[in-house]
Amino acid sequence: MTDYDLKPCYFEGKFIPLKDANLNIRTHALQYGTACFGGIRGYWNENKQNLFLFRIEDHYKRLKQSAKILQMQTNYSIEEYKDITLQLLQKGHWKENVYLRPFLYKSALELSPRLHNVQDSFALYAIPLGDYLDTQKGLKVCVSSWIRISDNQIPTRAKANGGYINSALAKSEALQNGYEEAIFLDSHGNVSEGSAENLFLVRDGVLITPDVSSSILEGITRRSLLQLAKDFQIPIEVRPVDRTELYVADEAFFAGTGVQVAWIREIDHRIIGNGKIGTITKKLQDTFFEIVTGENDAYSHWITPVY
Ligand SMILES: Cc1ncc(COP(=O)(O)O)c(C=O)c1O
Repeated sequence: MTDYDLKPCYFEGKFIPLKDANLNIRTHALQYGTACFGGIRGYWNENKQNLFLFRIEDHYKRLKQSAKILQMQTNYSIEEYKDITLQLLQKGHWKENVYLRPFLYKSALELSPRLHNVQDSFALYAIPLGDYLDTQKGLKVCVSSWIRISDNQIPTRAKANGGYINSALAKSEALQNGYEEAIFLDSHGNVSEGSAENLFLVRDGVLITPDVSSSILEGITRRSLLQLAKDFQIPIEVRPVDRTELYVADEAFFAGTGVQVAWIREIDHRIIGNGKIGTITKKLQDTFFEIVTGENDAYSHWITPVY
């Protein structure tokens, strides 16, 4: 058991120790993957003695959208979700970098893989989390042999738990073949995203990312970086991206709550640019870390202090 197993989670409408939040093995979501989730990071700032949550309202807005796609009831407003989250962190006296996992799951003990008329529930827990992937050394990445699930199969827009089998297949294949992460192509052969993060390229000073019709999750980090690029007057193209554009890019990086902003050194054995972190990537990465840790006043509206 870990320390955080003793801290509170939110389960069946109450705060209880994480270790006591257990589900019946007949639970619909366990049997069929009928759940959707979010992932929110909190950054502890030692100087300010505060924990800052990045774009919490946007994360709960997306959770509600996922729920709508999966025909789930969300009994709480965004404000109520936010309040539960702040209470959970305060009750747990969290004073370190934290990852929050809110999720809605079909909690009925029923057979039949369907969405309608199956009871659902909300739960939330927190764990400590450092880097998910290295953000500093440059990642070695491959294009996956697994195709990204499309909107008419399991919608990636919904951040649906069952869809992460697709991610797991690609991630394991990549790791077992000596890479650190995988890039998916979509069912049209265009570049989609990483197994659990969005993807950006830079070509000739233009920041490029696949559009929302390329079977991506509509990432909140992605949206934030596009906004930063706009504010820095970096030209942006949001459009279909070909596989070979990856190979000839000057810069490439992943972006997401887990991965943060992590630059890519190599894709399918082609070194990206000069094999070092690119200038646009570095500027966006530095600014991102300033913002999320509460050190950039211009974007303080994106963060919520816990204390
Ligand atoms: C498949 C996938 N794409 C993209 C992202 C990035 O989204 P966000 O920036 O909202 O965390 C995530 C995870 O967070 C993800 O699981």
